[in-house]
Amino acid sequence: MRVRGSVAMVTGGNRGFGLAIAKELQERQAAKVYVGVRNPAAFEEDGLLPVALDVTDPASVAAAAGQCGDVTLLVNNAGTGAAHPDGSLDPDLIQTTERVLDVNLYGTIRTTQALAPVIVDNGGGAIVNVLSDEAWYALPVLTGYAMTKSAEWSFTNALRVDLRPRGVEVLGLHGGFMDTDLVRDLDVAKSDPRDVAAAALDGLEQGKEEVMADEQARLVKRSLSTDDGYYLHPSVLG
Ligand SMILES: NC(=O)c1ccc[n+]([C@@H]2O[C@H](COP(=O)([O-])OP(=O)(O)OC[C@H]3O[C@@H](n4cnc5c(N)ncnc54)[C@H](OP(=O)(O)O)[C@@H]3O)[C@@H](O)[C@H]2O)c1
Repeated sequence: MRVRGSVAMVTGGNRGFGLAIAKELQERQAAKVYVGVRNPAAFEEDGLLPVALDVTDPASVAAAAGQCGDVTLLVNNAGTGAAHPDGSLDPDLIQTTERVLDVNLYGTIRTTQALAPVIVDNGGGAIVNVLSDEAWYALPVLTGYAMTKSAEWSFTNALRVDLRPRGVEVLGLHGGFMDTDLVRDLDVAKSDPRDVAAAALDGLEQGKEEVMADEQARLVKRSLSTDDGYYLHPSVLG
């Protein structure tokens, strides 16, 4: 898909990776870039159009979709996480993961179900789901987050098959840690969200349906088909 001339909506576009990809879309001359934000009054970035959007609230999602009837490119980016000091045996694991699932998985589903028909009506386009290499391994301290990203990957795979014949390309974006608030407290190597945004849009413009944005993601995916998969002994943390 050509980004130039497209009309994009980036959920969670006020900071972090969402803001980085919104600016990259602008740079590549998207005709319009909506950013879904929970607090539009606090958002001010030249040329980006804030739309009130809480992806956990069906009424908010419906209202946002009503304001963005010209969208041809949706970036499902809004996301959150949780840390489990006791790893997979954390007694609060279910409760915490329900909150994270509501944003990362159900939020993506709600927004997609509201906007995919709009994209189809506008003649087709694309949906980019911001996943993670954590879809394919789980650090104990991030057990819940990893589960949500695996589930979001699975949804993405079904969605791609459904939407391809309707003229909507679905791209799954996998990357390792990026330098954003989400992983502020993790002392690990992090990539620049602007580089990941550029890799995602390069992939989209080349017609790719899956992008490994950095070496960590490439390594994790490659290892899935080996007897010694990275997920058997993840080594970054925990
Ligand atoms: N950082 C990493 O290492 C990394 C690696 C791979 C993938 N990712 C993925 O990249 C995406 C963006 O994460 P990030 O690193 O940029 O995190 P971030 O800096 O914490 O930003 C998260 C964004 O999501 C928004 N958001 C959270 N809950 C929302 C809700 N209910 N409705 C609407 N927006 C909501 C936040 O809005 P508020 O400002 O209102 O809170 C914020 O704009 C996520 O899907 C994440 O899983 C991140």
